[in-house]
Amino acid sequence: MKEIEIKTKVKACQLNELSADEQELIAIAKQQTNNSYCPYSKFHVGAAAKLDNGVIIRGANQENAAYPSGLCAERSALFAAGANYPEVPVNTLVIACYTDGHFTEDPGAPCGACRQVMIETEHRYGKPMKVILYGEKEIFVFEKASDLMPVGFFSEDLKG
Ligand code: THU
Repeated sequence: MKEIEIKTKVKACQLNELSADEQELIAIAKQQTNNSYCPYSKFHVGAAAKLDNGVIIRGANQENAAYPSGLCAERSALFAAGANYPEVPVNTLVIACYTDGHFTEDPGAPCGACRQVMIETEHRYGKPMKVILYGEKEIFVFEKASDLMPVGFFSEDLKG
């Protein structure tokens, strides 16, 4: 038996350590929490995806009385990006979470399904997609989505 240690990289930053573009994208993701439809969880998630052509796609979680029919903020943004600009890589994705009257102290952690969609988006365009997770205390910056999901499942894996 061989033990493999998998390491991943993340930068823990403060807002003023990020570029003006990144700060703007964070402001948009935070604003997007207002568009969250979350009567069940009351957990508002906003997303902003900047494409390589400069277009910013906005997302927010959308819940449903039939719970699994809802969709997370990140996926709403990434799927809208794919549906409207299929040829354009996603450069940076930001998410921010708001609940109990404030943005979360810790960086919002994307669910597994969203991570899977992130790595496919990155893989599809063959270039890194930066992922920024906003938190009031600190902000996590992943230089590429695959850093959030080591040992991911990709199209090649379907070939056996
Ligand atoms: N949610 C997201 O929008 N993104 C995630 O990655 C984690 C969870 C949403 C789904 C649901 O509407 C609410 O947060 C509580 O799980």
